[in-house]
Amino acid sequence: SASRINGIKSTLRIISDFPKPGMLFSDITPLLLDPKAFKDTIDFFVERYKNENISVVAGIESRGFIFGPSIALAIGAKFVPLRKPNKLLGEVISENYDLEYGSDCLEMHVGAVTSGDRALVVDDLIATGGTVCAAMNLLERAGAEVVECACVIEVPVLKGRERLESRGKPLYTLVDIV
Ligand code: PRP
Ligand code: MG
Repeated sequence: SASRINGIKSTLRIISDFPKPGMLFSDITPLLLDPKAFKDTIDFFVERYKNENISVVAGIESRGFIFGPSIALAIGAKFVPLRKPNKLLGEVISENYDLEYGSDCLEMHVGAVTSGDRALVVDDLIATGGTVCAAMNLLERAGAEVVECACVIEVPVLKGRERLESRGKPLYTLVDIV
C-alpha cells in the first residue's frame, strides 16, 4: 500500500509560482499517463467507499471530473457534476467561495441530489478547503448527508483538513505535498 502511494506520488509534477507567484501547482496529467498509478488511485477510493452506501459522487469542475466518475461507476453511485458558473442548463443552486487569490462559484442542478442521498465529494486536490466546503454546502442545501471528502492530493500547510474538521467532516487524501 505504501509503495502504491509512493508510485502515485512519484508521477506528480510539482511546480512553484504557478499559476500565481507564491502558489504551488501540482500537475496531475503525468499520473493520467501512468495506467497503473491512475488505476491505483481510483482503487484506493473504491476500496474505501464500496461498502459505505454512497448514493452520489459529486465531482468538482474541472479536475474532480477526472477522478469522480470512475469512482461512481465502481461503487454504483450516481455522478453529479458541480460546475463553474453558467454552465448548467435549467434551475441551479450556487455557492460562492474564496480561493487563495480571488473567488469563484460552484453550481449544482436542482433535483440532482435529494434528501436521503449519501454523498461523497471528489476533487483532485485540497488546498485551503474553500472549494470542497462550497461543494458540501451545495449538497447539504439539497438535503444530502456528506459522508466524506476525497481528494488525491493535500497541501497540509494550507490547513484544509482543519477547516473540514471544524465543521465535523472527515477528509481522505492519498498524497501530501509541501
Ligand atoms: C484547484 C484544485 C481544487 C482547488 C483547491 O482548482 O483543482 O479544486 O483549486 O483549492 P482550495 O482547497 O484552496 O479551494 P481550480 O479552482 O484551480 O480549478 P480547476 O480544477 O478547474 O483547474
Ligand atoms: Mg479544481
